[in-house]
Amino acid sequence: MKKTTLVVLGNGQVGVEVARRLAERHRVVRGARQGALRPPLEGTTPVTLDLDKPETFGPALSGVDSMFLAAPGETFQLGPLEALLAAARGAGLERVVLLSAHGVDFRPHPMQELEAAVKAGPWRWVVLRPNSFMQNLLGPLGAGLRAEGVLREPAGEGATAMVDVRDLAEVAARAFDGGFDGETLTLTGPQALTRRRLVETLSRVTGRTFQAEDVPPPVFREVLLAQGLPPVMADTLSGFYADIREGRMAAVTGDVARVLGRPATSLEAFATDHRAAFAPR
Ligand SMILES: NC(=O)c1ccc[n+]([C@@H]2O[C@H](COP(=O)([O-])OP(=O)(O)OC[C@H]3O[C@@H](n4cnc5c(N)ncnc54)[C@H](OP(=O)(O)O)[C@@H]3O)[C@@H](O)[C@H]2O)c1
Repeated sequence: MKKTTLVVLGNGQVGVEVARRLAERHRVVRGARQGALRPPLEGTTPVTLDLDKPETFGPALSGVDSMFLAAPGETFQLGPLEALLAAARGAGLERVVLLSAHGVDFRPHPMQELEAAVKAGPWRWVVLRPNSFMQNLLGPLGAGLRAEGVLREPAGEGATAMVDVRDLAEVAARAFDGGFDGETLTLTGPQALTRRRLVETLSRVTGRTFQAEDVPPPVFREVLLAQGLPPVMADTLSGFYADIREGRMAAVTGDVARVLGRPATSLEAFATDHRAAFAPR
């Protein structure tokens, strides 16, 4: 009999990839605020789950054996996620896999309390701490890079061991099979690259010339605020880039390879797979 696993943020970029892989072995229920799946995936069904509506927690957890838990965004309210975990305790879940992040212990962050709440059990647990996602280059943080060929960030000469979300999702899916219970896995790519090395790699793979421009941190913060980002988000992102500048995002670990039995995906392979996204406009 297949286990039933609830994927919280079942329409999120990580949730979709985790659900896709878990559906091969589990009955997968994807939490979505409106109860509609984007995209629909074979072997996955929707359930209404809104962190701001505690009345959705009980029905979403009904018949569930395990849960992939993720928090919406880098800044989030801890209370609703703790309430969801309290409901999950009542539902007798046997395993929780938490998406955390590398660097959450560098300064006060609500993820520290969320990790502690997951580790308090009574279930088996795995905490995943990925470095920043290669897929960020496909989203708003990579908009200037894709449009103009220039990556403008306050990263200095700091290197980042970016990880491919597809590797993260594969690790998350494997974590539900046991073998890594009670572990905090730090997930990175196979290399730490400075922004200069990153754009060199993109240029080599795509044949288009990309450049990296170091932006002074206060200027970057002003740009974020001018784009309409709330100050708390601008501060969180600025702190993240300070960690890069100061070399705290550069450690490469073997955790992806240890879990998957193959090397982590390189930026070169990621860029090759997404070559079309980096083509000139
Ligand atoms: N980006 C990075 O480099 C990086 C690195 C390490 C860790 N992380 C962590 O990754 C997590 C984000 O994962 P992700 O990128 O997969 O997320 P995402 O794609 O931004 O997730 C967006 C989803 O969140 C759902 N959502 C938003 N508010 C919600 C609420 N109140 N209740 C229920 N669902 C809600 C939305 O669901 P609906 O479709 O239902 O509206 C939407 O589909 C964060 O915790 C972040 O710290 C990110």
